Amino acid sequence: MANDKQQLRLGMIGTGFMGRAHSNAWRKVSNFFDLEYEPVLQAVCARTEDAVKAFASQWGYASHETDWRKLIERDDIDAVDVCTPNDTHKEIALAAAAAGKMILCEKPLARTAAEGAEMVQAIEKAGVPNMVWYNYRRVPAVTLAKQIIDSGKLGRIYHYRANFLQDWTISADLPQGGAGLWRLDVGAAGSGVTGDLLAHCIDTAIWLNGGIQKVTAMTETFVKERHHNLTGKVEPVGIDDACAFLCRFSNGSLGIFESTRYARGHKALYTFEINGEHASIAWDLHDLHRLSFFDHSDDSLTRGWRSIHVTDGDMPYMDKWWVPGLQIGYEHSFVHQVADFLEGIAKGEPVGPTFRDAQETQEICEAVLASGKDGSWHAVQNRV
Ligand SMILES: NC(=O)c1ccc[n+]([C@@H]2O[C@H](COP(=O)([O-])OP(=O)(O)OC[C@H]3O[C@@H](n4cnc5c(N)ncnc54)[C@H](O)[C@@H]3O)[C@@H](O)[C@H]2O)c1
Repeated sequence: MANDKQQLRLGMIGTGFMGRAHSNAWRKVSNFFDLEYEPVLQAVCARTEDAVKAFASQWGYASHETDWRKLIERDDIDAVDVCTPNDTHKEIALAAAAAGKMILCEKPLARTAAEGAEMVQAIEKAGVPNMVWYNYRRVPAVTLAKQIIDSGKLGRIYHYRANFLQDWTISADLPQGGAGLWRLDVGAAGSGVTGDLLAHCIDTAIWLNGGIQKVTAMTETFVKERHHNLTGKVEPVGIDDACAFLCRFSNGSLGIFESTRYARGHKALYTFEINGEHASIAWDLHDLHRLSFFDHSDDSLTRGWRSIHVTDGDMPYMDKWWVPGLQIGYEHSFVHQVADFLEGIAKGEPVGPTFRDAQETQEICEAVLASGKDGSWHAVQNRV
């Protein structure tokens, strides 16, 4: 190595959507952030030899494995990055913790709160640095929203509302299970839109607005049976296709959340709005570099919603990129998360969301799904 940086030798598991997003972030981070640690793309793992070999060559991994257990056993791996479907998270995290590896896990932490609790216990017992990829916290406009709220500009918060809308599962002919479609298979995913999409909205919400005490939800599975790619049979669909819930935050504010994969015309419309006593904030993933802000203390004749273009050098993360006025995108949120993780291990400090932070989201998802079944209010539990 030509420099005096400490190496962090990475073992990546999974080469799909997130395998690519994370590999891009690990590769780029040292070009844009000046950090004590430098990631080394040591090994990547997926189950098919030819495909994983091609991925390793395309993304610059030094080696590859077809069994994640072998990757975890290797002495030349410091950190394991889990980019596989939800049903694999617990087993991989427990093995990585037992081997004393640092672990970064994709969201949701697990399929259920019970699984998540086991993971938190194992990782904390092992004492290894850990993080969960709720990447939207590190979109600069969302990070700026956090700074504005923490500065007190909104005053008392009254309302939090969030949506995550898609339309890709409307066709009843779409099968469930296997590559790309594991999200429709409850055994692999754990739940539908609640764990997949609302988990993002919940993580952002509890980060910006604090804990959630209780929830009441409505869930629906619009297509009840689908062909299963792995069994070859028509099987019942066990996931929630749509979910809406109301909640009470610990700070006294009221929350309303909605997610569906049946909102024709919407591909990934993640939005949130927060209304406070003095000001409001709104954000929209489709226009992710902008933050909308309304301040009631402005002069009454020029008062209105401002659209803040979050590109100036004093705005979160933006001094690391181009010049003011030039925006960045979705993939940069992962680069920021890697940079913060590397800074955290250099300082010996945890970086959120940790497994424990992500377990709070898991508990809220669990309460939402339970309420969706029985229609009553559910208190959010705390298993760990
Ligand atoms: N943070 C985000 O915004 C975000 C976005 C998408 C997905 N995710 C999460 O990332 C995870 C992966 O989702 P994805 O969209 O990348 O899925 P994907 O289907 O695109 O890719 C999954 C990958 O895992 C591999 N895989 C499956 N089982 C494996 C095993 N036993 N051993 C090794 N490899 C295995 C598959 O071959 C594939 O390469 C999920 O937990 C998902 O919820 C997070």
